[in-house]
Amino acid sequence: MDFTFTEEQLMIRDAARDYAQRELIQDVIERDRHAIFPEKHVKALAELGFMGMMVDPAYDGGGMDTISYVLAMEEISKIDSAVGVIMSVNNSLVCWGLERYGTEEQKQKYLRPLARGEMLGAFILSEPEAGSDASSQRTTATDEGDYYLINGTKNWATNANCASIYLVIAQTHKEKGHHGINAFIVEKNTPGISLAPHEEKMGMRSSDTHSVMFTDVKVPKENRIGEDGFGFVFAMKTLDGGRIGIAAQALGIAAGAYERALQYSKERKAFGKPISYHQAIAFKLSDMAVKLEASRFFCLKAAWLKDKGKSYSTASAMAKQYCADSAMEITTEAVQIHGGYGYVNDYHVERLMREAKLTQIYEGTSEIQKIVISRAILSD
Ligand code: CAA
Repeated sequence: MDFTFTEEQLMIRDAARDYAQRELIQDVIERDRHAIFPEKHVKALAELGFMGMMVDPAYDGGGMDTISYVLAMEEISKIDSAVGVIMSVNNSLVCWGLERYGTEEQKQKYLRPLARGEMLGAFILSEPEAGSDASSQRTTATDEGDYYLINGTKNWATNANCASIYLVIAQTHKEKGHHGINAFIVEKNTPGISLAPHEEKMGMRSSDTHSVMFTDVKVPKENRIGEDGFGFVFAMKTLDGGRIGIAAQALGIAAGAYERALQYSKERKAFGKPISYHQAIAFKLSDMAVKLEASRFFCLKAAWLKDKGKSYSTASAMAKQYCADSAMEITTEAVQIHGGYGYVNDYHVERLMREAKLTQIYEGTSEIQKIVISRAILSD
């Protein structure tokens, strides 16, 4: 693996950094406090090509590699990971899933506007009783000949209100277990879809999360993705890539907290010298720097494997688990280094700590990543 970034990768990283440090930072505390969806920023990032970064230019995407995606996600999430998750869901769950497994008609109709960022997508898998245990789907998609009827309730759907397109996972043949699950492209304005009120989350408050209810929602047969019964494998394969995005998001959150703690420790004086001169703080910073560097390697390794067309399922689970758990530890230490100032929102680190927690939960908890990793190593 070559550790040098190409000029193009650096340009993409710098464009993301520049936008985040100049624009995203300005109203991030307000957006978080009042859970305001970052509409103007999503539009601006779409103009930079960041909503369909890895999609082939033939479908209006940016044609960038996964390493560039990781670099951009880190920079955006350093400042506002709520924007990071909107980007991540659109890029690595919705666009990737459609580009990899959609029909030509599905790509022309849906992938193009998604890649241009004119439409957003949501990936709707979790249910009140099927979160970690994703194959226990209760939402049904009944085959009615030339269409399916979807009924059920989904939750934790990121982008549910702002999206125009949903990728919905549902059970068609209950007796076949996970082999009876299908994935569908569902237009949000289809009759029978309703949204519960926006979830008041602990962190990433400005991203748009809802439960979604489906009542006799009619979906044309041509909107099924892949062969009948492919839905569970579709979800798993899509999540393999999604986890690289969330790992990079966690890396960004951790990097943001570390940089702020480092700066603060050089400025804040106690007992006659900057607190960074005290070993109690210097050792914390050292541990944070080591975890951050390891997180970066995990993300880049998974991205590199994906770009090389090699298997990346285990690497992405390792990256997700390590980066999310490290982000929680690093942000917690960043708050500690800031003392009382860390506990109020002007210094950003308490927000980053709240955001880190979510990276340990969604797109598979840290415990789920351990299931994926342990099954892989034990089957060798
Ligand atoms: N690639 C391809 N196939 C895969 C696969 C992968 N990564 N993982 C599993 N499969 C296949 C298996 O080979 C198996 O196929 P066969 O039966 O034909 O042999 C089939 O899928 C079932 O596999 P398992 O027996 O391993 O399935 P399981 O029921 O034990 O579940 C799990 C495995 C890893 C725990 C899975 O349920 C899982 O990932 N759960 C977490 C779900 C998750 O991440 N949810 C997040 C929701 S999305 C979200 O958060 C979106 C958002 O808005 C941010």
